[in-house]
Amino acid sequence: MDEQHKPAWQMNRRDILFLGIIAAVILLLVLGTTERTTRPVPDDDVHLHSTSRAACMQCHGPQGVRPQPAGHTRADQCFQCHQQPEGWQGLSR
Ligand code: HEC
Ligand code: HEC
Repeated sequence: MDEQHKPAWQMNRRDILFLGIIAAVILLLVLGTTERTTRPVPDDDVHLHSTSRAACMQCHGPQGVRPQPAGHTRADQCFQCHQQPEGWQGLSR
């Protein structure tokens, strides 16, 4: 056993720690993408241009074409839970 046959690289504690941190970051990213389970607002023309709760409720109120489900929250901030489509043009409400 002489020095020349020693492998150039061996796992040491610092490498294991480093790999552990990378694994933890990847895990957090993967879990983060599945965290939001509420249905997003569809990415269509109607939804890109609806900017107020009143507009939403014309279709999603009890008389609308697609009412909110029974027992749905009466909260006003639709986008707090339903992610708005990319490029949405409204105020944040
Ligand atoms: C002109 C009518 C209309 C308006 C205004 C409208 N929606 Fe919709 N919305 C629909 C219809 C119809 C669907 C279901 C069909 C589809 O997926 O496109 C839908 C689907 C949705 C969905 C997905 C859930 C599902 O049923 O598939 C969400 C969330 C939603 N709308 C939220 C909103 C919010 C928030 C606003 C206000 C910014 C809004 N809508 C404005 C007609 C409308
Ligand atoms: C506190 C969170 C929250 C807020 C605020 C909220 N919603 Fe919802 N909404 C939900 C949840 C939870 C569901 C049912 C589960 C799901 O989306 O799959 C739902 C379901 C819906 C659906 C039916 C989706 C489907 O699966 O068919 C529509 C339409 C909808 N919401 C519209 C609205 C509109 C319009 C507003 C604003 C006036 C609004 N929501 C505000 C949480 C919220």
